[in-house]
Amino acid sequence: MSISYDFSGQTAIVTGGARGIGRAIASLLSVSGASVWIWDVEPVDLAGTQSLTVDVTKRDDISRALREMADAGTRVDILINDAGHLGPYASFETFAPDEWEQIVQVNLLGMLNVTHQVLPLMRQAGKGRIVNMGSLAGKEGLPGLAAYSAASGGVIAFTKALSREVNDTDIRVNCIAPGPIDTRMIRDLGNQTVDAMISASPVGRLGDPKEVAALAAWLCSDASAFNTGAVFDMSGGRARY
Ligand SMILES: NC(=O)c1ccc[n+]([C@@H]2O[C@H](COP(=O)([O-])OP(=O)(O)OC[C@H]3O[C@@H](n4cnc5c(N)ncnc54)[C@H](O)[C@@H]3O)[C@@H](O)[C@H]2O)c1
Repeated sequence: MSISYDFSGQTAIVTGGARGIGRAIASLLSVSGASVWIWDVEPVDLAGTQSLTVDVTKRDDISRALREMADAGTRVDILINDAGHLGPYASFETFAPDEWEQIVQVNLLGMLNVTHQVLPLMRQAGKGRIVNMGSLAGKEGLPGLAAYSAASGGVIAFTKALSREVNDTDIRVNCIAPGPIDTRMIRDLGNQTVDAMISASPVGRLGDPKEVAALAAWLCSDASAFNTGAVFDMSGGRARY
């Protein structure tokens, strides 16, 4: 059974929408009627969406993109904070400081940068939906991904705190904690690591980006108006709490 949504008249920003999970979310929001702007370091040609080159670690990129959208007369109803960077899959002892800095910059500070500039627009409208992409790593702490786990734990805590700061409005802030999902981020780890992830999966497979997109669309819909500050697993049963 497929569920359909009607986001006509709404505008969405999807960071990291050039590929993987973000792309699946951008596609689903777009076919569901939303006007979708993809913000990514990689420009993308995706039917029904508009692409702006934005590095979420650069605050000037974000303000320029918002100015372009304002010039086009758009507002922002939905923000999907999906841009992410995994970094090396290795013991923390072998990390160079610039590697963990980049992980925290993109996954945590990038999300704060974007949210800080978009939130006033939602506050002005009195409503909006923010979906932050966390990770199973942020809930459980995964060996080999210490810095990424720390950044993702920050995403989860930020989601909870921010949701409570805006609960005098109809702005809803939630987090999805996926893993592992079949995207380039995971495939780049190599077949051996992917096979180990599949073996460790209670349902015996990787997730499909479209499955994460379906959850994100639901979180942006009226059906989930009572959810805020929540973390939703999408881990094929791997998450233990
Ligand atoms: N795939 C998984 O199993 C998994 C698991 C847990 C969490 N996540 C999270 O889901 C999100 C999407 O992951 P994915 O698997 O689709 O990854 P992906 O690598 O396929 O896509 C990530 C996207 O983010 C963009 N990006 C990277 N740095 C950026 C920056 N500084 N500014 C703007 N865009 C930037 C990339 O260009 C790319 O389009 C990420 O936040 C990731 O941490 C993924």
